[in-house]
Amino acid sequence: MKIPLFDLTRQYAIIRQEILAEIDKVISSGRVILGENVQKLEKEIAELVGVKHGIGVANGSDALYIALKALGVGEGDYVITTPYTFFATASCITRNNATPIFVDIDPQTYNINLDQVEDVLKNHPQSEKIKALIPVHLFGQTVDLERLEVIRERYGIRILEDCAQSIGSTWKYADGTVKKSGSIGDVAIFSFFPTKNLGAYGDGGMIVTDDDKIAEFCRSFRVHGSKTKYVHEVVGINSRLDEIQAVILRVKLKHLNEYIEKRRKIAKWYGEEFKKSRGLWVVGLDYTSNQQSTTNNKFHLVVPPVPSDRSHVFHQYVVRFKGISGEKRNALRDYLSKQGIGTSIYYPMGLHQQKCFAYLNIPEGFLPETEKACEETLALPIFPELMKEEVEYVVNQIISYLGGD
Ligand SMILES: Cc1ncc(COP(=O)(O)O)c(C=O)c1O
Repeated sequence: MKIPLFDLTRQYAIIRQEILAEIDKVISSGRVILGENVQKLEKEIAELVGVKHGIGVANGSDALYIALKALGVGEGDYVITTPYTFFATASCITRNNATPIFVDIDPQTYNINLDQVEDVLKNHPQSEKIKALIPVHLFGQTVDLERLEVIRERYGIRILEDCAQSIGSTWKYADGTVKKSGSIGDVAIFSFFPTKNLGAYGDGGMIVTDDDKIAEFCRSFRVHGSKTKYVHEVVGINSRLDEIQAVILRVKLKHLNEYIEKRRKIAKWYGEEFKKSRGLWVVGLDYTSNQQSTTNNKFHLVVPPVPSDRSHVFHQYVVRFKGISGEKRNALRDYLSKQGIGTSIYYPMGLHQQKCFAYLNIPEGFLPETEKACEETLALPIFPELMKEEVEYVVNQIISYLGGD
């Protein structure tokens, strides 16, 4: 079997006619830049999130850069974020001449540890210069939105939600209220990179906000800082979402809920298949240890839980094997590759370990959960069209490599 980590072509085969017809309409209309499809998509995404404004941009990285600038972050400011994320979450901080403060992750969710965020907000020597917090709803799992709202209130900090991986994910508050990721930040961003749950056939991104001023700034900054053509109030950039990508995204948006449900089903299949193995001690299916460790259990596998509250949209399905880390984890990956199974490591290094952030002088071991996750985790194939037999094959190959049954 050949099972890629992600497969764009299977989905395209299903929606091909619809997509091609819509692309044809766009090109035939002659309006290929900032036309009605960008406007409609902006409205549709804002509605999906439950906020007033959507501003289409060229990619998620620009969306972060522009959104952080819209919050007024600049030279001399500090911004808290996670080191266990894609590079753009942090590069938007330095691109705005501010300094990142990396806070460790919660090993269960891989999201930023909010206890430690509060600790930094209280005790950091430059705490008055901390302007913003960028939580990332990593792998599609929502950060505790209720707690984020409390933190914003308590410390007067602004929040930019990085929803690049979490479109459609939700959080249930103690009083039963349900909110979407992207709805509580002062501003939030999405990426439409092709592998994302809502992916274009090229690059794309979106900024969303309830704040009229932030929306106005972003809308002009993406077209060279100009509200009226050839009149520039600030030096902006060219970061437009193009009309063809917008129409592709509008077609796919109609299927988004179905895609998310399929991802959840696949995550459930993985958990069930792993649980069948007698050699594995599977932890995490419902945030607890489901099976007791016995002398027969050779390996301790941590899988992501599939919460019934829709807080997870499974952009990635990431597992970790306690005790199989570093070279051993990489050898497992090589073995799976030889069996035709694509995997990936999100992420092989914490951002604090990247050369470009060496100036922050963060010593090794300072962010232990991030460093451990980088050594231990493995992302397995997940995309809506993945079949049950393929999930079974992936799990069987892992178990046979580990020498289990
Ligand atoms: C968490 C996160 N933030 C930001 C980005 C940047 O998005 P883009 O690739 O569209 O620039 C990505 C994805 O690539 C991401 O996964």
